Amino acid sequence: MHSFLELSQQFEKDFSPRQFPESPANLYDAAQYILGIGGKRVRPIAVLMANELFAPIAEDALHVAKAIELFHNFSLIHDDIMDEAPIRRGMPTVHTKYGQSTALLSGDVMLVVAYEHLNKINESYLREVFALFSKTAREVCEGQQLDMDYEKIATVDFDAYMHMITLKTSVLLAACMQLGALIGGASLANQEQMYAFGKNIGIAFQIQDDYLDAFGNPEKFGKQVGGDIIANKKTFLLIHALNVANDEQKLALHTLINNQDADKVEKVLEIYKACKVDEWSEVLKEQYLQKAMASLEAINVLSARKTELEKLARFLLDREA
Ligand code: IPE
Ligand code: IPE
Ligand code: MG
Ligand code: MG
Ligand code: MG
Repeated sequence: MHSFLELSQQFEKDFSPRQFPESPANLYDAAQYILGIGGKRVRPIAVLMANELFAPIAEDALHVAKAIELFHNFSLIHDDIMDEAPIRRGMPTVHTKYGQSTALLSGDVMLVVAYEHLNKINESYLREVFALFSKTAREVCEGQQLDMDYEKIATVDFDAYMHMITLKTSVLLAACMQLGALIGGASLANQEQMYAFGKNIGIAFQIQDDYLDAFGNPEKFGKQVGGDIIANKKTFLLIHALNVANDEQKLALHTLINNQDADKVEKVLEIYKACKVDEWSEVLKEQYLQKAMASLEAINVLSARKTELEKLARFLLDREA
């Protein structure tokens, strides 16, 4: 079994050379720009690891890994427009650098190129892969819409938040795990366990993302800290704070949400801290990690083969960027 580092070096060799035509330069430079400014490459590596759990890594797994990373980057470009985010991966976002129209279009073209990569795989499972990929992409759009809808309403309950982050983030990691397994010839039962593994890790991953958005180290995080608070995102931080806060804190939170005062982020963070949202985030992440691990355990391959996937799961939940 290969480590995350070995697989990401292997993936980068294939992925880092320019992927797009030279012209029109603005369109393709914008697409290449976001690929070139970093990214952990978690999802493609998840595909490769899931594949290797069942069989030696196949060329088709690499095609799918590339398609997934392109899809992910497409979703980030559009997400940054929607979230009015100024920085990503420590650099200006695509729409900030190239303008909104080019950002939209370069995202679109990346989605098309993602499908071109998928189209290279063996016909025996092409339809199945297309179906799961497309279902997942549709769900990501649904989750992203809910995320924006929730900005505009005063409160969202915990179940609605979980549903939203499952769609916008976790189904993609779930699909990575299932697609790698499918290409590796895993049984349907094992594929389903891999999907559940990825889904629960994905939920914990977004919980960590939301935590970092409030409390991350700006030097390491690579995104604007406090962006979710400014945008009135309904994260578990806010939901938990509103659940446990006293009347005074509740009133303060509601007032802060309705304003864009200069000290909004600072004030909200103070209340989050007083409500011990950090402890709650640890509890939540651990809960979903345990669920994920149970699925991984249920897969009938030698447990020694699962170590790298376990490490990946822990890395995703403890990450600082
Ligand atoms: C960011 O994903 C988007 C979320 C779903 C939270 P990553 O944290 O994997 O972003 P990169 O690709 O490593 O920059
Ligand atoms: C984004 O969630 C999920 C997708 C890109 C589909 P966020 O909006 O929290 O992601 P970041 O924090 O901007 O990376
Ligand atoms: Mg965002
Ligand atoms: Mg978003
Ligand atoms: Mg975020």
